[in-house]
Amino acid sequence: MTQHSEFIQRDRGQHPPALTPDYKTSVLRSPRLPLWSLQNSLSEFTGPVFSREEMGQLDHDLIKNYAKTGDPIGERTIVHGRVMDENGRGVPNTLVEVWQANAGGRYRHKNDTYIAAIDPNFGGCGRMITDDTGAYAFRTIKPGAYPFRNHVNSWRPAHIHFSLSGSGFA
Ligand SMILES: [Fe+2]
Repeated sequence: MTQHSEFIQRDRGQHPPALTPDYKTSVLRSPRLPLWSLQNSLSEFTGPVFSREEMGQLDHDLIKNYAKTGDPIGERTIVHGRVMDENGRGVPNTLVEVWQANAGGRYRHKNDTYIAAIDPNFGGCGRMITDDTGAYAFRTIKPGAYPFRNHVNSWRPAHIHFSLSGSGFA
């Protein structure tokens, strides 16, 4: 298959070890057995396929896409960047999904029981497709830090989670 050479194996030497016991979350989330290399088939090279037409008009606007009775609480910001491949080339048509806590540091999720209030006008999720240069941008509220049970008085600083889906699972 000719497309096979387009996918470069991940260089795991560029990443921190998956298992870092002092960072407690990594204990349950890291593999216990050596990784397997699976033979890719056509579906891994040709899918998934996403298009701009599938995006809602406000999907990339976290300030407005969940607003019910007004604007969400917090400091407004624009986040932008570029998705690039291993050779520094922009990757067009990549689905970028983001999720984050609200300004108080609370997620809209049933498992989040932090004392900060849910913001009725903030959902905390968005998505967009990169343009021809791999660029993306979205409007949002600066997320708040939240406590984290790694050790006593451990806090996660303000952050936004990203998920990227390119043109092939491989
Ligand atoms: Fe988080």
